[in-house]
Amino acid sequence: MEHLRNQKVTKICCIGAGYVGGPTCAVIARMCPQIRVCVVDSNPKRIELWNSDQLPIYEPQLDEIVKECRNRNLFFSVQVEKEISQAELIFISVNTPTKNFGFGKGKAADLKNLEHVSRLIARSADDSKIVVEKSTVPVRAAESINRILGANKKSGVHFEVLSNPEFLAEGTAINDLINPDRILIGGNETMDAQIAVEKLCEIYQNWIPNEKIIRTNTWSSELSKLAANAFLAQRISSINAISSLCEATGADVNEVANAIGSDSRIGPKYLQASIGFGGSCFQKDVLNLVYLCEYLKLPEVADYWHQIIAMNDYQKRRFALRITECMFNTITGKRIAILGFAFKANTGDTRESPAKLVCKHLLEEGAQLAIYDPKVLKEQIYADLNISDLNIPDGNKCLEDYVEVVESPYIASTDAHAIVICTEWNEFKELNYEKMYSLMMKPAFIFDGRNLINVRQLEMIGFHVEKIGRQSNHKKIGSMEPNYNR
Ligand code: UDX
Ligand code: ADP
Repeated sequence: MEHLRNQKVTKICCIGAGYVGGPTCAVIARMCPQIRVCVVDSNPKRIELWNSDQLPIYEPQLDEIVKECRNRNLFFSVQVEKEISQAELIFISVNTPTKNFGFGKGKAADLKNLEHVSRLIARSADDSKIVVEKSTVPVRAAESINRILGANKKSGVHFEVLSNPEFLAEGTAINDLINPDRILIGGNETMDAQIAVEKLCEIYQNWIPNEKIIRTNTWSSELSKLAANAFLAQRISSINAISSLCEATGADVNEVANAIGSDSRIGPKYLQASIGFGGSCFQKDVLNLVYLCEYLKLPEVADYWHQIIAMNDYQKRRFALRITECMFNTITGKRIAILGFAFKANTGDTRESPAKLVCKHLLEEGAQLAIYDPKVLKEQIYADLNISDLNIPDGNKCLEDYVEVVESPYIASTDAHAIVICTEWNEFKELNYEKMYSLMMKPAFIFDGRNLINVRQLEMIGFHVEKIGRQSNHKKIGSMEPNYNR
């Protein structure tokens, strides 16, 4: 790394043009006009979209930044090897999904993309590089990358591998990147590694104060990413566990969240009860942690973390069951409007979206779904609700016979028996619910999986309202006894 000691990084290559690589590099390009940033991907369609007016991902403010920087100092390319060879610093931000086969199936991360790019870097690099893992990876992945690079590098080439996990949340990615709580950089203790760490720091110091940059050893950095996501997911599962207690006792989960979140030691964030968390990170990272604990023969610790996932699955199932139970224990042939399919608001991403599981349960009970989401593409919804994964009672037809993807909440609710809110899109707060009520079958049900709507107003209109973490008024009238058996 000596060659970089008195020199700043001027060329960055990022491998993987996804939800992490795309926005991260767009912000680096914007904040560091002196650096050439090229994002490469093996998927030519993705790159074509990044170079078009229709970016492959939706993220507030991303369009403007890409428009400002593209072809100035921000480039998108399929020429992976060429861009690797020209860069001084390489980010790896390829996807590392949970394995669905073999050893560690359902828990361990699938590292084939990471290994593939490591080999590619070794093959394409003619001079020394700083290699930065940005993808969420299991602890000690940097060591594996290092070994692959070391065993395959050309002579005279040196690689320094750093861990620099990304903490952006989808929907607020640009703001998270511009104003992060912290930047975490892990490297080992050699002189070369320390030079590499400082080179990466210099990039962030273009817009982030040095006090916010945390330097650790590589493994601490890798583990911190998994632990941070596990802590956040744990808070959601904890408040969701409390929500089921609220529904059974008459307490209101919003009031409880507010009361406990006012304790400055607890704080108010990530206490929003919901139909369960989704997204590409929480489940994957917690399972990764569980797998690590099992591997290290720490079964009690593994069980502890696994309970977060079990509670999340329970919350999704419980919500779907509540819908069926409230609608007189039968939804066969009933049209149900699904509002929101993304895993959270302000993204078109559906990875691990709780809406998918809720829809699956409803379809398997024979419902007809009309799905509306402001950002998720129709093809994505049909791909996610794969008919061969569904056990539909009268299942010899095609998915389109059971699922309609529509262009407005009003079309969705026409002739529907129920509205089910799965994503907390702001626009769902401001719908004309009187109009929707008039278009629906009666009794008209609304199931709010995101605690978004004003119960009293909707009950005044005539809706039967069911909300996460709040006993329904209908149940209160029927019985004042808490139902502990739900
Ligand atoms: C998360 C982490 O926040 C981020 O730091 C990390 O880099 C990647 O994983 P992301 O999955 O994009 O980000 O979104 P996040 O806002 O954390 O929400 C995850 C899920 O939890 C969503 O389904 C969301 O709706 C749900 N959620 C969040 C709740 O149900 N309740 C809450 O209080 C907060
Ligand atoms: P994340 O949310 O982690 O960014 P995404 O799936 O959105 O995940 O993006 C990961 C990107 O990495 C995808 O666009 C995928 O095509 C790309 N990718 C995966 N493997 C490779 C590889 N071997 N070479 C180049 N790009 C790759």
